[in-house]
Amino acid sequence: MSDNPVNMELHPQVEAFFDAATNTISYVVKDPGSNACAVVDSVMDIDMAAGRITYDHADAMIAHIEHEGLSLEWIIETHVHADHLSAAPYIQERLGGKIGIGEKIMIVQDVFGKIFNEGTEFQRDGSQFDRLFKDGDSYTVGSMQCFAIHTPGHTPACMVHVMGDAAFVGDTLFMPDGGSARADFPGGDAGELYDSIRRVLSLPDAMRLFMCHDYGPGGRDIAWETTVAEEKANNIHVGDGKTREEFVRFRTERDAQLNMPRLILPSLQVNMRAGEVPRDRDGNPMLKLPVNRL
Ligand SMILES: [Fe+2]
Repeated sequence: MSDNPVNMELHPQVEAFFDAATNTISYVVKDPGSNACAVVDSVMDIDMAAGRITYDHADAMIAHIEHEGLSLEWIIETHVHADHLSAAPYIQERLGGKIGIGEKIMIVQDVFGKIFNEGTEFQRDGSQFDRLFKDGDSYTVGSMQCFAIHTPGHTPACMVHVMGDAAFVGDTLFMPDGGSARADFPGGDAGELYDSIRRVLSLPDAMRLFMCHDYGPGGRDIAWETTVAEEKANNIHVGDGKTREEFVRFRTERDAQLNMPRLILPSLQVNMRAGEVPRDRDGNPMLKLPVNRL
């Protein structure tokens, strides 16, 4: 990470799109020096009871990009989300752009390929994505230099994306009063999550941090933007000198009490395929529900 020049003079314009059904925040990030933009963590809508997929949330982002006359260069997934479906291919088909995720997606594909009993036609090499990022990899959005930091712990493939003075933290961190995400999914690890959070909090104090989720703890309004300084001082799980041991103990006890996310089964099947819905033998979109596997 130290090889990567952080440029706090560069202030990309960040437009947030909140999805109330899954408490996810998706972003359109615009390069200040051109009309290039990136999408971070898009959402595809699903009505599980009906097995119906729709695109209202993605359409709002597409409308914004078109209205502003932006050209979409990247569709970034901070990780394989377990609580919402990605709309990456839907957006790519309409606006172009490359779909990127962390290279450790291969671990996630291997684990969940087994759980969903996917056949040999399901590739476990990340080839469904256009780009697999390694720790410290850089890329550009227009003239803006961006880079990815590998932040495992919540999942093995989690990455934080830094674009100018803005960092998109995925589920590595929540707002200061929300703390951190669970670390008990397959391949998750509370100690690793703590170490990853420390790396993120070693970015400059003034770095803007954008969350992937917010649940408005204590009834406060939904929020998604904070700073490294605020997280360091106030994060209820990792701020103000909380030790690794304290964090691991707390996180492990808390995770043991959490239910699985409502959309974990459809989300993983779709998101490990870069947002494509799997198909049955006849080519119809079809989701599985493995019994007693999670
Ligand atoms: Fe997540």
